[in-house]
Amino acid sequence: MRPVQIKPGIYWVGVNDRFTQLFEGLWPIGEEGVSYNAYLLTDEKNVLIDLAKSIKVDEFIGQIEQIIPVSKLDYIVINHMEPDHTGILTILKKLAPGATILIGEKGMKMLKSFYQIEENVKTVKDLEELHIGEKILRFYYTPFVHWPETMMTYEVTQKVLFSCDGFGGYGALRGTLFDDECKDKDFYIKEMLRYYANIVATFSTPVLKAIEKLSSVPVQVIAPSHGLIWRENPKMVVDFYRTWAQYASSKAEKAVTLLYGSMYGNTERMMSSLLNGLSKTGIPVDVFNVTQTHVSYILASLWKNRGVIIGAPTYEGSLFPPMADVLHMANVKHIKFKTAAVFGSYGWSGGASKKIIEMVEPLKWQIVDTVDINGAPTNEDLQKIEELGYRFAKEIIEQP
Ligand SMILES: Cc1cc2nc3c(=O)[nH]c(=O)nc-3n(C[C@H](O)[C@H](O)[C@H](O)COP(=O)(O)O)c2cc1C
Ligand SMILES: [Fe+2]
Ligand SMILES: [Fe+2]
Repeated sequence: MRPVQIKPGIYWVGVNDRFTQLFEGLWPIGEEGVSYNAYLLTDEKNVLIDLAKSIKVDEFIGQIEQIIPVSKLDYIVINHMEPDHTGILTILKKLAPGATILIGEKGMKMLKSFYQIEENVKTVKDLEELHIGEKILRFYYTPFVHWPETMMTYEVTQKVLFSCDGFGGYGALRGTLFDDECKDKDFYIKEMLRYYANIVATFSTPVLKAIEKLSSVPVQVIAPSHGLIWRENPKMVVDFYRTWAQYASSKAEKAVTLLYGSMYGNTERMMSSLLNGLSKTGIPVDVFNVTQTHVSYILASLWKNRGVIIGAPTYEGSLFPPMADVLHMANVKHIKFKTAAVFGSYGWSGGASKKIIEMVEPLKWQIVDTVDINGAPTNEDLQKIEELGYRFAKEIIEQP
């Protein structure tokens, strides 16, 4: 893409990543892509805010050079040290040796350990301001949105918040940068939720603190480091993040995530009957075969739905391993306060449901029903399971 002016003297100079298969080496983005948004501010001093992963270095530098020679950069603001925002720093330093790096106090130490950079670095304090001509930068420490050193940078005169990972999402840019020009906002909101559940969820309390800290700041444009720039309705994206952050400590939406796995179809048949029961109530349901869908997508659904139904067979005295993997990740991401039901088939002495209950115990999930079926479910079993589905949905719907 070419540079895009977002306000007078403020340009997007980021890059799209459609090559990386796994973000953080872990989360699939092969289909969706991701953008590393960086911003160039021109004034008496020229400032680059956030960089990119060390891909497409030529394209990145080329975009800056369409506006100013890269050697004329005076400051490089590092809001966050994670290499998706700093990977090209070593090369950039060589091309702009006169530029001073501006970074928060905790970032300073990381700059040395990640890139062995100590010279021409200046720490900025929380709420410190820097006049770069007519424009004024103000730095807000926002620890743990996403790492301890993370901060956001605010341009005071034009009210632009460079929020880095905060309010970001997966999804490469598809020809437009701005919320008001995007015809496919639902895609970005969906990918923002997945990004939230994968990357940010653990840090929900810091997210709420950051939102509170910035609540009195007049923001016209939210310019995150991943995904769309929000200028038509910046409040919307803050509301999404606030709502999702609150799900860390309270019940989420009245909807159900139905997870299942099955080796020979017995548990799968039970799952179908459950769906019959659930669907009679009209409650929204996301269904996942845990062997087919990457946990990245499952986590997004688990994060936003308050009801979870888990169906899996017994495997070697315990739980079908792909389901155990998903529940492990639910623990890693602290997915709490769910209303749950458990079902599955076993051959002789069972063990799956016991293991499920044990695994979700630390997450304080309230288990309202458990059904273990020996071998294949009979028609009578399936009828009961359908009723269970109906009861479960009703319980969720009637919750306060
Ligand atoms: C590899 C394997 C290991 C199993 N281990 C156990 C076990 O330890 N205890 C048990 O009760 N059943 C065990 N079973 C039996 C299954 O739990 C039983 O066949 C069940 O009906 C499978 O449900 P599904 O058709 O949904 O896969 C095992 C089955 C397989 C294929
Ligand atoms: Fe990050
Ligand atoms: Fe990031």
